[in-house]
Amino acid sequence: MSLRVAILASEATPLCKTGGLADVAGALAECLHADGNDTRLFIPGYASIDRSRFVPQPVEGLQDMALEVGAHRYVFSVGTLTLPGSGVRVYLIDCPVLYGRPTLYTGDPDEHLRFLAFTRAALMTCAALGWAPQIVHCNDWHTAFAPLFLRTHFAQEPALAAARTVLTIHNIGYQGIFSAADAGDLALGDQAHLLHQDDLRAGIINPLRHGILYADALTTVSPTHAREICSDEYGMGLQDSLRMRQLDLTGILNGVDYGVWDPRIDVNLPQHFDAEHLAVKTDLKRAFLTRMGFTSDVSVPLAGIVSRLARQKGIDLMFEALPRVLGARDLALIVLGTGDAPYEQFFRDLAEQFPGRVVFQRGYDDALAHWIEAASDLFLMPSRYEPCGLNQMYSLRYGTVPMVRRTGGLADSVEHFDPASGAGTGVVFNDFDVPALEWALNTALDWYAEPTQWRRIMRNGMAQDFSWKRQSEQYIEIYQRLTKRK
Ligand code: ADP
Ligand code: GLC
Repeated sequence: MSLRVAILASEATPLCKTGGLADVAGALAECLHADGNDTRLFIPGYASIDRSRFVPQPVEGLQDMALEVGAHRYVFSVGTLTLPGSGVRVYLIDCPVLYGRPTLYTGDPDEHLRFLAFTRAALMTCAALGWAPQIVHCNDWHTAFAPLFLRTHFAQEPALAAARTVLTIHNIGYQGIFSAADAGDLALGDQAHLLHQDDLRAGIINPLRHGILYADALTTVSPTHAREICSDEYGMGLQDSLRMRQLDLTGILNGVDYGVWDPRIDVNLPQHFDAEHLAVKTDLKRAFLTRMGFTSDVSVPLAGIVSRLARQKGIDLMFEALPRVLGARDLALIVLGTGDAPYEQFFRDLAEQFPGRVVFQRGYDDALAHWIEAASDLFLMPSRYEPCGLNQMYSLRYGTVPMVRRTGGLADSVEHFDPASGAGTGVVFNDFDVPALEWALNTALDWYAEPTQWRRIMRNGMAQDFSWKRQSEQYIEIYQRLTKRK
């Protein structure tokens, strides 16, 4: 049975991206569409979307629409296009006063209004089109008020009355909290009792919590993380609400879009390779080292990092471990990322301390991210928490051995190599501390020094299959279960 699915997301590749949510929203939509479901993707019409490449057509009857968010008045228009590379229909919600800013996310005082407005406008668009999604699939805090809005503002709306909701938690570390003084922005009137009362008393409104309370089904992006977020250690204050909904919470590991992330066809690379042609990987590494200004020889192991430089990613552990390991052993390091100032400063200093061996490229650069996956020997992800993580799965396909902490999706996608049996795909450490990371780095370097063994690890990884096809079936199962429920 095919379904009508509305996906509400704050970013989606290839239109706009800051992290993995974009990859997932784009690829899941594509997969659902390919499976015969009427899948429509709603995203904010950010200024940074390249409209010469992605050309939206104005949707008739949805231009200059009045939108009230509490006492705030906005005007929005809807443009539509098909997602490049697939037939998914995308609706861009244009509202320049809200989305015409330099970055996708801001620390501006109206940040909550930007996404309340987006959520309401997306639902209004379904209603105005007379298109009745059976499933409204929202993602993270930005669209987490959709389930409550459907029960309140849109309860009498014929196109939406029967919609069931799914909330996927990609990152519990971001909850979109705003002041209880702004409760009027939700315009719930005599249904304001539906807001989480303890939070209100504490002076806050937590969008993600309301998604957890009111979505028909909850998912997060790996089975391990689904268990983790119900615990005090990983729940980030939402563990009680999650425990109440534990029976409705499923962990579904993200997939990989192998149409984009595969060294056999990667459009960013001048040469392609697979497990039978690893010499090409070495050629790419050689070219990359020269281009990036490394002086180390191609035989020296190259470790790569591509990351938002945020506390989540475990960079603090590297402060002590990396200078020590770099000081003691042959190792080169390429880092691509942008984020919190202390982390950027750390990598800047490290590059100064180890010239020709450490290169820090500050910023966001998709093509360079692909090159790092292709040219590196090792990929470092010592995350404090990692709901899923995509780069370790990309790394596996590129024969770039991931070194990860055993948490969330890292634990579910990388198996610690066992030299005795020859099974396993990477280096996995347990404790979030400096000695554990140092042990993992040294273990990786010891294994690298044994070329036959290293090639075995590479090939084990390259044989893994994390394609979306299998993963999207698990979402479809949930959708179907919900639509059958009275
Ligand atoms: P998160 O969503 O927490 O950032 P993921 O591992 O799920 O982590 O996804 C990160 C995605 O963003 C990957 O596709 C990665 O290649 C990409 N990415 C992160 N930082 C950069 C950057 N500085 N330049 C290019 N791509 C980046
Ligand atoms: C998040 C998580 C990451 C996950 C991504 C996509 O931002 O930090 O682990 O892979 O969302 O689900």
